[in-house]
Amino acid sequence: MAKRMQREKWASKIGLILALAGNAIGLGNFLRFPVQAAENGGGAFMIPYFVALIVIGIPLMWAECAIGRMGGRHGHGHTAGMFEVMWRHPLSKYLGMLGVVIPFAVALYYIYITAWTLAYSYFSLTGNYFGITTREAMGAYLRGFQGVEPNQFFSSIGPAYLSFLITLGLSFYIVYRGIPGGIERLGKIAMPLLFLIGVALAVRVLTLGTPDPNYPENNVLNGLGFVWNPQPERLTDATIWLAAAGQIFFTLSVATGAIPTYASYMREEDDVALTGLSTASLNELAEVVLGGTIAITAAVAFFGLAETEEIARKGAFNLGFQALPMIFQRIPLGQLFGGLWFLLLFFAGISSVVALTQPAMALFQDGFGWSRGKTTAVVLAALFLLCQPVIFFLKHGFLDELDFWVGTFGLSLFALIETIQFAWVFGMERGWEEITKGAAITVPRIFYYVIKYITPLFLLFILAAWAIQDVPEKLLMAGVRPEDVPYVWGARVLMIAILLGFGVLVKIASSKKEKGIRP
Ligand code: PHE
Repeated sequence: MAKRMQREKWASKIGLILALAGNAIGLGNFLRFPVQAAENGGGAFMIPYFVALIVIGIPLMWAECAIGRMGGRHGHGHTAGMFEVMWRHPLSKYLGMLGVVIPFAVALYYIYITAWTLAYSYFSLTGNYFGITTREAMGAYLRGFQGVEPNQFFSSIGPAYLSFLITLGLSFYIVYRGIPGGIERLGKIAMPLLFLIGVALAVRVLTLGTPDPNYPENNVLNGLGFVWNPQPERLTDATIWLAAAGQIFFTLSVATGAIPTYASYMREEDDVALTGLSTASLNELAEVVLGGTIAITAAVAFFGLAETEEIARKGAFNLGFQALPMIFQRIPLGQLFGGLWFLLLFFAGISSVVALTQPAMALFQDGFGWSRGKTTAVVLAALFLLCQPVIFFLKHGFLDELDFWVGTFGLSLFALIETIQFAWVFGMERGWEEITKGAAITVPRIFYYVIKYITPLFLLFILAAWAIQDVPEKLLMAGVRPEDVPYVWGARVLMIAILLGFGVLVKIASSKKEKGIRP
């Protein structure tokens, strides 16, 4: 075997768990989750949600930590190399490559949204939007900021672009500092802060009571009920099962390649079972308890049920960047609470941004033997360039197109491929051994069968339902405005180009390894 460069390792167990938590806990927990829950049957959503957590979320988390630790042992921090270890077949690396392509493509828009939270944190603390009291006007403020519609609030995209540059720069500084020096340190700072701020905000929301006595039904209890009261009749609707599975992938960062990459920096004796479970638990705590309390409950207390439903239907940005800023204007110390809310989102966002970029970093470092400095520069430059269309074509649906194919469809596709690779091609016997080796907890044996049979079947069902229900419409661009069609095509061409580009890179990395010239 070729001589290998000493790969980096996490410095401590707690650091590893906090870094993984930083990876998983993101904008998905605080913006995507409440909207998904509200839109898909409230409490009825929570049933498929928890089923998906048990049947695909936790099993994939374990499998991915195991795949990653094993990959690291062979000198691979990216799933293309890991898949080759599991299955010696020329195709293998191209299947595994999805775990580099997906996070890279998600990063293209995730960075930009994270940048908005930074800017809005500043706007809140300085009271910049205070005095804008209608949702329409707050919407115009957001569109002005995004450069979608220059107006009296923002004459150009300048402030958004500046926050993008700062966010990108900061992310890359962290990535450049390396695994223990950058990402682990970030997790150790950002995660405790995030939980602290999250609890403070949740307590603030829960003590809102009935803000306007003229509207007694607009209160905190009804807000909580909005997320939690089940509408059992919706359970037979396939849509909510798809939405629940999609949310589980996205929020746990599983089926994206980001978890195996982080796990590849584990030590051989680090345990997979408890680490994976702790990561999933911290993520669910942040998502269900904090994410489920803060935004929606506050919205119901101030706007009432009907209006909150409408807000949720219009999406996560509407809730986070329009509805909440209005609420901050109506509560004491609103500038501070607003600043904290967006800071919470920023911490959540940036610790996921570095996770999204790390698989591509690992491809160059492990696959090409490049130094961290050189890799950082190249990945940074590529991301910077490819983010441009996302930023400037936002209003043409560029971001949404990427999000559907990569952030939604791509994840379920990769989840299925990965599970089959792990449980059937590599083999569940060996897979189970990897999961339980050195485990600090006993993994119930039933998960052996869950991962082998139930997870792939469930995923197959999800993917088939998606392919039938959503994909044709999307492919045919239903609902896309005629003037946006070229941009949507542009997004597709970009995705294909990224896929081909990484295909070439993965091929080169693999042949270098064959020849033994990889360092
Ligand atoms: N899990 C993150 C969130 O909830 C998103 C993410 C996906 C991060 C994939 C890294 C990899 O927002």
